[in-house]
Amino acid sequence: MKKIFFTIALSLVVTTLVMAQKQINLPLIPLPQKLEIGQGGFEINESTVLYSESEDAINDLNFLQAYITDHYGITLKSTIGAKQKKSVSVKRNATMKPDAYTLRIDSMSVRIEGGSGAGVFYGIQTLIQLLPAGKTTKLHVASVNIEDEPRFSWRGMHLDVSRHFFTVKEVKKYLDYLAMYKLNTFHWHLTDDQGWRIEIKKYPKLTSISAYRKGTLIGHYSETPERYDTIQYGGFYTQDEIRDVVAYASARHITVVPEIEMPGHALAALAAYPMLACTSGPFEVGRSWGVFKDVFCPLDVTFNFLEDVLTEVTDLFPGKYIHIGGDECPKDRWKESPFCQELMKRNGLKDEHELQSYFVQRIGKFLQTKNKKMIGWDEILEGGIAEDATIMSWRGYSGGVQAAKLKHDVVMTPTAYCYFDYYQSTSPSEPLAIGGYLPLSMVYKFEPVADVLSADEAKYILGTQGNLWTEYIGDFKKVEYMTMPRMAALAEVAWTAKERKDYSSFASRLSSHTKLLSFLNINYSKAFYDISTRVTPNGDRGINVELLCAYPNGQIRYTTNMTEPNSSSPIYDKKFSYDQSMMLKAALFEGPQMKGNVFSQRYLVNYATGKEIVLQDQPDPEYNKGGGFTLVNGILGNLPWNGNDWLGFQKTGLNATIDLGMARGISQVTLDVLSDSVSWIYPPSSMEVLVSENNIDFTSVGKLDSIAIRKSGRQATIKFSKKEVRFVKVIATTAGKIQAGAPGAGNDSWIMVDEISVN
Ligand code: ACM
Repeated sequence: MKKIFFTIALSLVVTTLVMAQKQINLPLIPLPQKLEIGQGGFEINESTVLYSESEDAINDLNFLQAYITDHYGITLKSTIGAKQKKSVSVKRNATMKPDAYTLRIDSMSVRIEGGSGAGVFYGIQTLIQLLPAGKTTKLHVASVNIEDEPRFSWRGMHLDVSRHFFTVKEVKKYLDYLAMYKLNTFHWHLTDDQGWRIEIKKYPKLTSISAYRKGTLIGHYSETPERYDTIQYGGFYTQDEIRDVVAYASARHITVVPEIEMPGHALAALAAYPMLACTSGPFEVGRSWGVFKDVFCPLDVTFNFLEDVLTEVTDLFPGKYIHIGGDECPKDRWKESPFCQELMKRNGLKDEHELQSYFVQRIGKFLQTKNKKMIGWDEILEGGIAEDATIMSWRGYSGGVQAAKLKHDVVMTPTAYCYFDYYQSTSPSEPLAIGGYLPLSMVYKFEPVADVLSADEAKYILGTQGNLWTEYIGDFKKVEYMTMPRMAALAEVAWTAKERKDYSSFASRLSSHTKLLSFLNINYSKAFYDISTRVTPNGDRGINVELLCAYPNGQIRYTTNMTEPNSSSPIYDKKFSYDQSMMLKAALFEGPQMKGNVFSQRYLVNYATGKEIVLQDQPDPEYNKGGGFTLVNGILGNLPWNGNDWLGFQKTGLNATIDLGMARGISQVTLDVLSDSVSWIYPPSSMEVLVSENNIDFTSVGKLDSIAIRKSGRQATIKFSKKEVRFVKVIATTAGKIQAGAPGAGNDSWIMVDEISVN
């Protein structure tokens, strides 16, 4: 589904570079609750025997056996019986909590005990992370004593297979990654406007028609004019394939939660069965992204259809939850429909939100007859929450908080921390993404339990989940790139006790763990080594520049002569100051090895740079990272934009006064503005520059009544005859309500502004 992602609160979490090399931890993710590291270790080799001490752990032991064969080429004997010396043994221990395990490794043996099959499996996953990250037949594992159990019971990852389709083989790989991080829930987003992906025997047109679209949008949704290819695109899973995936997940102690979207995001189904809509159609499977007005109509024929579909779905998925979507359902068709208006009257429903609630409750009751629990996106709170529904809170924390206070279970997936389709780096070389900015450190910072909840209410927070919407993710290598290693950070959020979390420790472990990711041929992102910059005013002489890296080890090396940094470039060790524009390039090195991407930043210095600036109205708190200084800090806001270098205004416009420190001869003022209608951001409707010698009497020197800017941004300039002045005022007004037909229609538009340059 297409998300309205204007709510994201973006702040880059940075810690200054710690020069000292930290003690290297074992590369375990998520970090176990209790971990002691001993001397020496154990060698698994061709003569090691794998023992299951109880029959009920043999499947998990066989999983380990197969892993070792597949990755190291040695097949160890696996058997049931009493544990032996020089062996690897597993056992279920009913006195432990079901998901808990212990892993004890010394020079004589490896012993895993788990409270259930899942517990044993988690112990095996920890052991796997200790195995060498390279092909060898002598598998040395460190001596450890681990006692471990998860913090949350819902530790999930979602995958949208509608916008782009992924094969059974790829889905299984994705499940392998979940298993590696002890995640236990796979939320499979099977239906949406752009494709229906699950075979339903009673409705064959869902796969012959709804599973295929006639073309796909090219580039980003915000681009105009829209461009499409004309290549038929699609695919679906047969019921046998679904059963195969469910069994594969189950062998990894992962429950699959299928999502069948309703009442919105239903266009693909309507293309095959137009009688389920409020108007007659015809409809076409979506070729573009976003939200479509044609949705399921609450007709009896629609409920019969959905109940038939859900009957087949509930038969295929043994887990207790069925996800019914519920997000982003435009109410236009229901408002226009005499049938819906009459239905509302008959049932005493006061508006279309209550009609949505009626819809969802009716489905919820049906699912109860199938012994299933309903889960839906937080919009299903609107118009009244269905009895017993679990809420997946995506539009921030508030839906989750509201639901927990109403004593409903909650899974926390707020966009600002859990949407892995957002950019994870500000590097211009990042592949196209939907927008937003979610670096690894921000995922790690996520706390699923809002502090406004009481201890009793907090019990309703089942856990958390990362979401991967795939509008801009057309192949599985990109799925890996977007999720890895953010999935690892989320796994630690979901598993490890809050008090044990520490980003520096995590990043060090991750850096070692990437050897395993490479061994497994996973296309992970190295953005967590990214360098960023912080600028501060330097009195009357430009700006101070610091370089920062959230990764705690290594050294930053830099150049200022446009060449790429290398292992003999100067080491950055203290902040610079600049009073002239310059280009800086920097990269992180551990020894001779460059770890991440090269960071490049141009710092621009003009009369306004680093000078005092006063804002009459403050930006919206969500988009006010650096205050007024953001507008004179010498750094142009990033494109694609993120919250860091832009100030956002919705309720008021911009009214900024800059004190140049002394009278200067000036003849041009430029304001950076952003245009991104998908995020409800429009150019200002006007911009005016006024000047003053005394900060009291201002004279207008130019006004623009419309601002034509290039596609995704940039500068609006006012030129005027030279003036000797000390104070410059810039006023930019918002465009007001968003017009019908545009994304976010009817809401107040935003302006996003950045650098004010005075020359
Ligand atoms: C969503 O991202 N529309 C749940």
